[in-house]
Amino acid sequence: MSNGIYVQRTLAIIKPDAVQKAEEIEDIILRSGFTILQKRWIHLSPEQCSEFYSEHSSKIFFPSLVAFMSSDPIVVMELAKENAISSWRNLIGNTNSHKARNLEPESIRAKYGRDEQRNAVHGSDSEMSAEREIRFFFGRSIVEPIPTDQAAKDY
Ligand code: PPS
Repeated sequence: MSNGIYVQRTLAIIKPDAVQKAEEIEDIILRSGFTILQKRWIHLSPEQCSEFYSEHSSKIFFPSLVAFMSSDPIVVMELAKENAISSWRNLIGNTNSHKARNLEPESIRAKYGRDEQRNAVHGSDSEMSAEREIRFFFGRSIVEPIPTDQAAKDY
């Protein structure tokens, strides 16, 4: 008997500049075919933000990014959908909200973002990042992937 199939997961964050619009953004997420597997409101400390964004620690904007992301509560969500990572990145649009307004006017950053820092939302950029980021906020994904050999045997 099959336990189900693997559906890709990604981590989404509604950033401090957009939490007032969290309900609207969650509505867009659901209407776009994602399932919200887990959700938390959380106010990160500067230390937690520094750890989460550690890959950007050498960038000139790092202190500003950490200060911004720890300034107010955020909403973190584990999303599931086929090709969730690229699908969510497409839905949120360009990192720079000004560019998003030109390139992807229907994207979430075009609608709710202001610039490169206050850009409303975050999305994991790879499977490795998604796994690390989901673990960072939720301990582990709510649904463990089924190993390929087992999935094949079940069918
Ligand atoms: S990079 O340099 O290409 O790796 O960076 P990028 O992927 O574009 O952005 C990574 C995160 O850094 C934020 N960011 C900034 N914050 C403040 N100031 C400036 N100038 C800036 N540029 C990028 C950006 O919002 C990304 O945050 P996340 O949460 O990953 O979307």
